[in-house]
Amino acid sequence: MGRVSGRSCIVTGAARGIGRAIGEALINEGADVCFADINGEQAQAVCEANRERATEAGAGVTWAKVDVTDRDQVRAMIDKTVETFGKLDVKFNNAGVNKPMNFLDVTEDNWNFIMGVNGLGCLIGMQEAARQMIAQGTGGKIINTASIASRQGFDNVAPYCASKWAVVSLTQSGARDLARHNITVTGFAPGVVATEMWEQVDRDLLDIGAAERPGQAMEEFSSEILRGRVATPSDITGTTTFLASPESDYMTGQVVMIDGGMTLV
Ligand SMILES: NC(=O)c1ccc[n+]([C@@H]2O[C@H](COP(=O)([O-])OP(=O)(O)OC[C@H]3O[C@@H](n4cnc5c(N)ncnc54)[C@H](O)[C@@H]3O)[C@@H](O)[C@H]2O)c1
Repeated sequence: MGRVSGRSCIVTGAARGIGRAIGEALINEGADVCFADINGEQAQAVCEANRERATEAGAGVTWAKVDVTDRDQVRAMIDKTVETFGKLDVKFNNAGVNKPMNFLDVTEDNWNFIMGVNGLGCLIGMQEAARQMIAQGTGGKIINTASIASRQGFDNVAPYCASKWAVVSLTQSGARDLARHNITVTGFAPGVVATEMWEQVDRDLLDIGAAERPGQAMEEFSSEILRGRVATPSDITGTTTFLASPESDYMTGQVVMIDGGMTLV
């Protein structure tokens, strides 16, 4: 019996990186998982790559193409998951984007793009998951991906930081509002995780003149990690599976830092 056996879970931003690892770790512990992403082709490929693992673990897999900023698409993703697994127990709002710009150069488009996916996408994901859980009468768990950028404002990524602070406040507001429906809302806050997002951020920081050579930004950014190295997605999944499991039932409104000791807040 796995730690999340029989739980029906959706993970957004699951075509790669942290989201994919969250989904795969849930499968290993017996959960049914919908891998959802704006890149539908890649989400489907990840789903198929996990089919055998799921069968061995007694779990199910499916996938959905979704833009988390589009409410109709979010509803369709939830409907597909419920049709496939019979219910929704756990919803990870993990999809996220970044596009570094110097503070004085930040445009309305840059702000709206990042706040749209990271902020509004999280709100819509929470609302629609909660509506499904309320209709089922089962309660459930909503788990949001925050960041060290939810705790400190960093230079060259101001809208990203604002959007990740928004994730913390949505987690707190949602926890208060949804408690009466037996829905808990928690979050986790990674530090520097070696994924394609960081590779792109590194390139973007070079492009805007905030770094002089590839890899410099990541090196400088992570020089104060007490654990002495950047994270891999597998460093994150012990906590995410815990948050999806009954072991975390008494937690709500909290965001857990998983940053190797980079920000002590
Ligand atoms: N990598 C890090 O160092 C780090 C640190 C802290 C927090 N995070 C957060 O973790 C989450 C995952 O990050 P990652 O490093 O795996 O990033 P990633 O870029 O590797 O993966 C993000 C995934 O989200 C998908 N996505 C983007 N916009 C979407 C949309 N509108 N709708 C649906 N899917 C969309 C992308 O297609 C991609 O597959 C993000 O919320 C990110 O902000 C990452």
